[in-house]
Amino acid sequence: MTRKKMMAGNWKMNKTVAEAVVLTQDISNQYDKEWEGVDVVLCPPFVDLKPAKTVLDFDKVKISVGAQNVHWEPEGAFTGEISVAMLKEIGCEYCIVGHSERRTLFGETDEMVNKKTRALIAGGIAPIVCVGESLAVRDAGETEEYVCAQVRAAFAGLDAVEVKDAVVAYEPIWAIGTGRTATPEQAQEVCAAVRATVAELFGEETAQNMRVLYGGSMKPENVEGLICQPDIDGGLIGGAALKAASFRQLVEACLS
Ligand code: PGA
Repeated sequence: MTRKKMMAGNWKMNKTVAEAVVLTQDISNQYDKEWEGVDVVLCPPFVDLKPAKTVLDFDKVKISVGAQNVHWEPEGAFTGEISVAMLKEIGCEYCIVGHSERRTLFGETDEMVNKKTRALIAGGIAPIVCVGESLAVRDAGETEEYVCAQVRAAFAGLDAVEVKDAVVAYEPIWAIGTGRTATPEQAQEVCAAVRATVAELFGEETAQNMRVLYGGSMKPENVEGLICQPDIDGGLIGGAALKAASFRQLVEACLS
């Protein structure tokens, strides 16, 4: 089974609409037909989604857009929130859920991550479910147990057919934005454990088809060692996704 690699840029709270249009255009200008061998996804802030999508559609490049968050309710009195249908209408194909910044800074719980994951799947948007341990959990030797419990919680109540397009991103918190990357062996070990958990929940076939990404200071200098690991199917990229040149190198690393 060969899983199609994925390179997703998580722009976080960076880029105004004007800046996002420039960066999207820069990335689009680097696009090569070869990129069709990788699922390339840009996840800008909400307000940039439609402008970024417009640029990509105009250029007819096969690059998708994804959101960084969503609310699980379909509509109503939820000030400041965005629904699945709103994302779907503007052509969003993916949505990050449970990023560690949302969990630690905005109080997102496993239960909320599960509600968002379920709402996205029901609405036809593929969730990119983020999991990952803190340094304290790693130092206590509880990484796999912790991360696999997050995977189980995120997918609770779903079946194999429903999760078939879902993606998991393993992002050790201590590696995010710190310049400190997990070694390829550390990352592989946890990504393999994530896949084993998916197999336990939904069967071997589903597990073999599901993309498991690594995220946390992934950049052109360290991508090669990570991407060649058997259970790492791509990356969720923060800092290095904010420059077209480095993002291009990351996408192209998936092709070799
Ligand atoms: P980073 O962020 O690449 O800047 O470490 C990754 C992420 O948080 O998704």
